Formats: sequence, structure tokens, C-alpha cells
Amino acid sequence: MAKISSAVFTSHVPAIGAAVDHHKTKEPYWAPLFEGYEPAKAWIKKRRPDVAIIVYNDHASAFSLELIPTFAIGVSDHFEPADEGYGPRKVPAVEGHPELAWHLCESLILDEFDMTIVNEMPVDHGLTVPLSIMFGERENWPLKVIPLCVNVIQYPPPTGNRCYALGKAIRKAVSAFGQDLDVVIFGTGGMSHQLQGERAGLINEAFDKKFLDDLTRDPDALAAISHEKYIRESGSEGIEMVMWLIARGALAEEAVEIYRSYHVPASNTAAGLIILEDR
Ligand code: DHB
Ligand code: FE
Repeated sequence: MAKISSAVFTSHVPAIGAAVDHHKTKEPYWAPLFEGYEPAKAWIKKRRPDVAIIVYNDHASAFSLELIPTFAIGVSDHFEPADEGYGPRKVPAVEGHPELAWHLCESLILDEFDMTIVNEMPVDHGLTVPLSIMFGERENWPLKVIPLCVNVIQYPPPTGNRCYALGKAIRKAVSAFGQDLDVVIFGTGGMSHQLQGERAGLINEAFDKKFLDDLTRDPDALAAISHEKYIRESGSEGIEMVMWLIARGALAEEAVEIYRSYHVPASNTAAGLIILEDR
């Protein structure tokens, strides 16, 4: 049977992807961040999951104000990197897992989560930067990827509580899939950051570190964080962290922390990474 038994939570700052693409990871600004990623890369290299469900947000690349799905799943076998204004990143295209993706659609929709089914979409830095963080520069990504895209761009985004419940439904769906697959789920985005307005540049280390602690200690408390609190405490883009709750919900309640890194600054963002496994 298929099983989700680990989760990777990480920021997706586009400049981190650019540092990989332009071979700047050893430069003084970037070296401490990338040194913090080494144990995570070693962990996934050893674990070799078959499939990653990557929970991420599109930044007006595949979708725009014309069409704003709250939760969308990519069911294709192929997703190209998006052109975000500088030409597409020169990273491998993503290979999907249509069978598992369609199974997820069926199970989730019958479980009353109204997913949008996507046959074709380019994937932007929200999805490709986490892959670069975990796997570095590659000819091919070493696993199949199911993109699960969440609206955190246009108010109103889904609540943390809804995301946490969706994660639990994903866990149930994957465990009912008849192939033997080790599935890792990625929760991406965050941590605290604000890219716009009077408080641009806001970082809140205390909020971020408590969030990292509570992923194992008290995920229910994280699921109860309101949109107002995200904005107040973690800046206007901190709301991306509701996506971490989908990944958290897909793990066993009794998950254990395997590794974490936290580094400020990475561009305008506090870059956090944490790995949890089922006990
Ligand atoms: C930055 C962070 C993001 O999450 C993003 O989507 C774009 C930019 C930044 O810190 O520059
Ligand atoms: Fe973002």
C-alpha cells in the first residue's frame, strides 16, 4: 500500500532558486543557508521517496485574477517550469503521477473537499525552489511530483483549520491507494515575510520558531491561527504557512522532528526548513 510517512516543510524564496541556478551557493551571503540544507539533502537522498505531493502556491504564473482555485491538483504526467518574467528556470520539468493524482481527486472530492482538477499548468518557484533545495542541480528530479496548489494570493485564502483537515483527508486517500509507494509531502512557503506596503521587510523570529516547535508539539494550535494573526505576526506573505498545515495534517499525529534549519535573511524572508517523520 502507499503511505505518507514523512514531510518536508520549507520556504520557497525565488532568490534561493536563482542562487542554485547561478552557482552562488558558496558565496558569503548564501553559504550559511545552504550549509543548513545539507543534512536535509542527505536525509532525502538516503530515504529515496517514490512520490512527492508538493503543496505550494502559484504566484500568478499558471493562474491569474481571472481564475482563482482555492485548492487545485495537477493530474498530468508532465509540468513545465513557468516563465516568471526572466524565462523559465533551467531546471528539469516535473514528472507527475496521474494514477495517484486521480485517486486523490476521487477520494478528496467524495470526502467533500472540492478540488479543482488541473490537466495542464506550468509550475513556478513555489514548487521548483523546494525541489532545488532538497535535490540541488539535477538533470532529472529523482521522484514523481503531484502539484497541490493553494490560493494564498487573493483574499480570502482557506483557513489553517481547513488546510489541516485537507491534510488528514490526503493521508486517508494515500493509504487507500493499492500500489506500494513511499510518499513524502512538502508544505512550502513562509516563513514570516512581507514583500509590500509599510511593513515590507517584516520578519518575526519568535513567531517562526514557535511555529516550528508547535508542528510537533501542538499542531491544533497552529490550525487555529486566524488570518488576522498571520498578517499581524508574520507579515502579509506569512499566510503562505497555512500550506504547511496541509502537510502536517497528512502525517500521523505523533510525528517526530528529524531536522530543522532557520536562517535570516534569505532575500526578504526568514527561511525555515523542517523535516518530520511518523513515529
Ligand atoms: C520572496 C519570497 C516569496 O515567498 C516569494 O514568493 C517571492 C519573493 C522574497 O523573499 O524575495
Ligand atoms: Fe511566495
